[in-house]
Amino acid sequence: MFPNLPLSPVSVAQRRGTMQVACQKTRVLCVALAVLVCVLVLCPWNFGPAKSVRKRILIPTTKFWRVPERSGSFWNKEQQYLDFTHNPILSSLPDWLNDTGPLDPCEPDPRVSAQIEDYDSLPQHFQDFLLHMRCRTYPMLIDQSRVCDGDPFLLLAVKSLIPHFDRRQAIRETWGRVGTLANRTVATVFLLGNTVSADLLPDLQGMLGHEAELHGDLLQWDYRDSFYNLTLKEVLFLKWFGQNCPSARFVLKGDDDVFINTLRVLDLLEGLAESKVRDFFIGDVISKAGPHRDRKLKYFVPESVFAGRYPPYAGGGGYLYSGELALRLYNASRRVVLYPIDDVYTGMCLAKLGLAPEMHSGFRTFNIEEKYRFSPCVYRSLMLVHSRTPQEMKRIWSWIVHPDLVCP
Ligand SMILES: *[C@@H]1O[C@H](CO)[C@@H](O)[C@H](O)[C@H]1NC(C)=O
Ligand SMILES: *[C@@H]1O[C@H](CO)[C@@H](O)[C@H](O)[C@H]1NC(C)=O
Ligand SMILES: *[C@@H]1O[C@H](CO)[C@@H](O)[C@H](O)[C@H]1NC(C)=O
Ligand SMILES: *[C@@H]1O[C@H](CO)[C@@H](O)[C@H](O)[C@H]1NC(C)=O
Repeated sequence: MFPNLPLSPVSVAQRRGTMQVACQKTRVLCVALAVLVCVLVLCPWNFGPAKSVRKRILIPTTKFWRVPERSGSFWNKEQQYLDFTHNPILSSLPDWLNDTGPLDPCEPDPRVSAQIEDYDSLPQHFQDFLLHMRCRTYPMLIDQSRVCDGDPFLLLAVKSLIPHFDRRQAIRETWGRVGTLANRTVATVFLLGNTVSADLLPDLQGMLGHEAELHGDLLQWDYRDSFYNLTLKEVLFLKWFGQNCPSARFVLKGDDDVFINTLRVLDLLEGLAESKVRDFFIGDVISKAGPHRDRKLKYFVPESVFAGRYPPYAGGGGYLYSGELALRLYNASRRVVLYPIDDVYTGMCLAKLGLAPEMHSGFRTFNIEEKYRFSPCVYRSLMLVHSRTPQEMKRIWSWIVHPDLVCP
């Protein structure tokens, strides 16, 4: 009312008093309001109709997980056992699963002949696979752990066999040349198993030793290098990768009879968005496939061993994935029972991680049309093609790196 009148000390004190009272009132009001809000928020829970409460909280009267039914196929049952042992909820093993074979997984498993009804009629190599499928640890005979010293951008991991000296050399001279390419570091390793005396193969170990010394790019494990053991090659490589090469950015795993256009691969990786790297896995993807039941086929798997369909997988001729994913794939592989077909197995491990490989049309594991076989420009746009001889590799590589070749 009298804004310009100086206030006497008394009136100031009085005002303070009334202000304090006003403040306390507001505080009480605030608390009351807060309580009201709380009550309103909680209201539907406490005072809502009983029906809606029952709708919100459903307490199951029975177990809300499903204990798997016993599978009649050996692989599936072994997988059920593995799933069971990794399941944090299910603690007691059902009786039908408490049957885990010899304590040492690398002893031949005597259960297989009793549990697989047509075991005796299966091909010898399939029987061998079943007897040893629980063993995943084999010593290394040749380890060249310095391959990744330069933290390569791209590691080429090539599945080879001991006698394939010429294929390895052609790869070294062409698409697997180690060093800097397109301003990126590329490293190459060849993945090898061993021979067993029962197979009566000539002993080439001495020559392999020379090769290892000369090139420093061989990894060899002491298991019998056979088709059904290719899955071992995959798992042992992933383990080695985690220990010796974990910072490589990308891995291309392929056969020693494919041609890879390393320049094109580097080009693709260069343009890859950072957000895509973590789950990156591309190749020639096969979807909706299942096991072949015809005994005469290379990929035959009997019903007594595996039931079900395959997850999407990339053809084993060659696929490309990130190093980050390689580390996770190894982890996943410990939760997937070894399967006799290596590329299907990798698809199973990806599925365990909730992932699927992505199709890329540059991966031609089923070759290209014959009329393009000798067209230099066709190879410029491809990533991978199967199959090519060492001589063809050298010819195609010269086309790719030829500076004068003009392609439309
Ligand atoms: C499996 O069975 C054996 C006896 O056959 C028993 O001693 C063992 O405790 C069982 N293991 C589990 C995990 O139930
Ligand atoms: C080569 O790569 C390095 C790092 O990887 C980068 O700093 C440099 O700019 C690149 N050079 C060219 C010509 O792309
Ligand atoms: C895989 O390698 C192991 C170890 O050498 C061998 O015992 C087994 O028979 C091999 N499996 C096949 C299918 O060759
Ligand atoms: C692999 O699993 C181990 C333990 O289960 C975990 O510590 C590690 O982080 C995992 N590695 C990757 C790359 O997922």
